[in-house]
Amino acid sequence: MKAAIKGIHAYAPPYVLTNKELETMVDTTDEWIITRTGIKERHIQKGEGLGTSDMAVEAVKGLLAKTNTDPLEVDLVICATVTPDMVYPATANIISNKAGINNAFSFDINAACSGFIYSLVTASKYIESGAYKKIIVVGADKMSSIVDYTDRQTCVIFGDAAGAVLLEPSENGTGILDSILRTNGAGRVHLHQKAGGSLRPASIETVINREHFVYQEGQAVFKFAVSNMADVSVEIMEKNNLAAEDVAWLVPHQANLRIIDATARRMGLDKNKVMINIQKYGNTTNGTIPMCLYEWENKLKKGDNIILAAFGGGFTWGSVYLKWAYDGE
Ligand code: UT7
Repeated sequence: MKAAIKGIHAYAPPYVLTNKELETMVDTTDEWIITRTGIKERHIQKGEGLGTSDMAVEAVKGLLAKTNTDPLEVDLVICATVTPDMVYPATANIISNKAGINNAFSFDINAACSGFIYSLVTASKYIESGAYKKIIVVGADKMSSIVDYTDRQTCVIFGDAAGAVLLEPSENGTGILDSILRTNGAGRVHLHQKAGGSLRPASIETVINREHFVYQEGQAVFKFAVSNMADVSVEIMEKNNLAAEDVAWLVPHQANLRIIDATARRMGLDKNKVMINIQKYGNTTNGTIPMCLYEWENKLKKGDNIILAAFGGGFTWGSVYLKWAYDGE
């Protein structure tokens, strides 16, 4: 028995922050951002009292309605996020409560930009155990809550979004067939949030020093991202005897168009088989892969071989091989 995605929904908040608007905030240009990253605009969650869970709940409620799922039948909710509503309780607990999922257990997974695929693989093992029948995996981040809008190196990259999938048992050969997940904590020096954890709790000093924002050494992260995301995507193809023509879609984490292009090239994939929406949303961390699947859902066919690939802070990275379980509209 395998675990298959049986439905997907996503949500991006309405406010669109364009490169033009960013030009008025920091010393940057539309041309630099497009050339170096491929991003034209990103969505931002505006408004007091709204957090990651509010975007996630939009995605989850849409998913429940779309798949005709009774919230009381859901067994488990896993939320991948680096921007939880609060340090604890888990954002998954808050999402479950707001969505009326009252017979489930729920927890968060923090694997930075690889969190959605880590969570998907974790959820698939619960299904494969036979003990759980309906699991919702959410990838959601309000990156605007930890982005320094005076730092041009990071503020142009990130956006806010959430996506959710429903996993159910599958016995017809479709579903999550294989995965390769990796971590190298030595990479933490290049991408992290300096303060707010137990090592360096929040203080007036940490706030003044702007230590509660994303810290990224872009070039160092870029080098690791390009090689590791491409390597792990090729590795999963080889491990499963997949040639480029066997792969229907690559669904890459959307961090930088140049990283996506390099990965597709190494896999020998034509660009029309690669889901790319970074131009509209930027890097939404845990939102990128489910946002892509959601936008491409209508084009997907039962039996399509799909490779998901991600790289993120930690460092964390990995790939997932799945056979799509249903025809899009
Ligand atoms: O999703 C999790 C993992 N994260 C990633 O995968 C991100 C990986 N890294 C990247 O995508 C890229 O490194 C960035 C997009 C972050 C930066 O692109 P880059 O081509 O590596 O630029 P750079 O950092 O080497 O900077 C080149 C120049 C520098 O100026 P000098 O020193 O050459 O004069 C920067 O100061 O571009 C400058 N620069 C900017 N200029 C205009 C940096 N940010 C900007 C900006 N606008 N926003």
